[in-house]
Amino acid sequence: MNFELKTLDLAGAAALKCDALVVLVTANFKPGADALSNQVALALKAGDLQSKPGKLLALYRPMGAQCGRAVLVGAGDGAPKQVRQALMAAMGALRSGAAGEKKLVVCFATEPSAQAVQVAVSTLADASYLYTTTKPKAAADAVTLGRVTLAVPLADTVKSALTQAFTQAVATVAGVEMAKEWANRPANHATPTLLAQAARSLSRLPKISCEVLGPKEVAKLGMGSFMAVAQGSEQPLRFIVLTYSGAAKTQAPTVLVGKGITFDTGGISLKPAAEMDEMKYDMGGAASVLGVFRALAELKPAINVVGLIPTCENMPGGRALKPGDVVTSMSGQTIEVLNTDAEGRLILCDALTYAERFKPRAVVDIATLTGACVVALGHVRSGLFSASDELAQQLLAAGEASLDLCWRMPLDDEYAEGLKSNFADVANIGGRMGGAITAAKFLQRFAGKFEWAHLDVAGTAWKSGAAKGATGRPVGLLLEFLLATQVTKVVAKTRTRKTSLAGQA
Ligand code: BES
Ligand code: MN
Ligand code: ZN
Repeated sequence: MNFELKTLDLAGAAALKCDALVVLVTANFKPGADALSNQVALALKAGDLQSKPGKLLALYRPMGAQCGRAVLVGAGDGAPKQVRQALMAAMGALRSGAAGEKKLVVCFATEPSAQAVQVAVSTLADASYLYTTTKPKAAADAVTLGRVTLAVPLADTVKSALTQAFTQAVATVAGVEMAKEWANRPANHATPTLLAQAARSLSRLPKISCEVLGPKEVAKLGMGSFMAVAQGSEQPLRFIVLTYSGAAKTQAPTVLVGKGITFDTGGISLKPAAEMDEMKYDMGGAASVLGVFRALAELKPAINVVGLIPTCENMPGGRALKPGDVVTSMSGQTIEVLNTDAEGRLILCDALTYAERFKPRAVVDIATLTGACVVALGHVRSGLFSASDELAQQLLAAGEASLDLCWRMPLDDEYAEGLKSNFADVANIGGRMGGAITAAKFLQRFAGKFEWAHLDVAGTAWKSGAAKGATGRPVGLLLEFLLATQVTKVVAKTRTRKTSLAGQA
């Protein structure tokens, strides 16, 4: 899909030739002198249209407009969440119509915030995303959006902020769609080898390089914990190292670590059959890291980012890891594997140790780690764990700004009690209670040498039910977080200069 941003008022948007026109009407709407404005004002007055988010009125070839169909939709006070609600309703209404929407114009009747523009782009992309890799017929049957024009009436002063938000949003869409694509692919179309190939092809993009390690190199590094998970599978493991170099080498990178279990059967601690198919998205964390790099290549911010992806299958088999086995991690700590289904932490711990060599500014791991996190937070917010208030704050804020929400969870040491083992330095599971937190406490033992945060996306990376499929989360959150580190630096610089000037005066 193709997005463009145009500075146009309602009259200007109405003059664009398109299959469908969506008009976002906020409570503070003030009509101009044009026909479409007039129509909106009349409908509002008659009560046939309300500014309440999602309330809509569909029109056919409205007079004075060049569109086929038009949907006038209430967008509340124009807050990002309300814009999202409005566009989801409008897209639903358009989809149920007979004609296909190849060219869509979405017009803000009142000046939107930068965040509202960002959310509009992501909502429209979400609504029109289609998975076709193993279902090519879906593409033939669907009428997909070809071109979307966002029309915004705006003052010159906000133009650059809106353009920047728009550019970020369009790049985010590319990242989100890449993450969705890989998480949606069934495990036989997304093996560790194929995932590594996808990472490698990212290195054709600007400022990105990629290195892929196989079983031999990983053994040499001493990643005994990661290797133990992979040993039950016929598919060889891969350890993917992606780097995005947008700033001087001296600038410490942020490291993203993505869990890349391409299929999680549970291993010898086998999962029940029901819904086991969904465990193909157990590489959702890895997919989000790939997506972030895809977007970084487009935005080219002045930052350094490293992406680490340990990827393998978790299978039962003659060679598989058994409950009670003790493995030695790259950190030297021994781990008693009490449950082979708690495999995510076993591959992540070695990747966290590997991250030390980059002397990172911060490390964020992203993992579909626990069912317990889904119980705790459902599908709305990802679980956020960090001992650093500053890092936690930055990630929470990035979540709010991108509407890719997370929620901070505790890390008290008491939660680690259950991880004690008589046979190793640590066990890989605690008790039944607080499972998302004990998992985080396990990881924390391997993250002592840098600022660290953990995002449990088990509930947010995937949707079950009729709309079953990957969400592409938390690509939006991560990008917002990474880009903010760049912005903060600029702001900090300006501030120092101001202070020093004040000092001179
Ligand atoms: N990949 C699962 C977690 C998961 C569950 C993700 C549901 C998405 C939806 C993870 O490897 C796992 O199996 N975790 C176990 C841990 C337990 C054995 C301590 C779980 O959550 O049951
Ligand atoms: Mn598991
Ligand atoms: Zn898993």
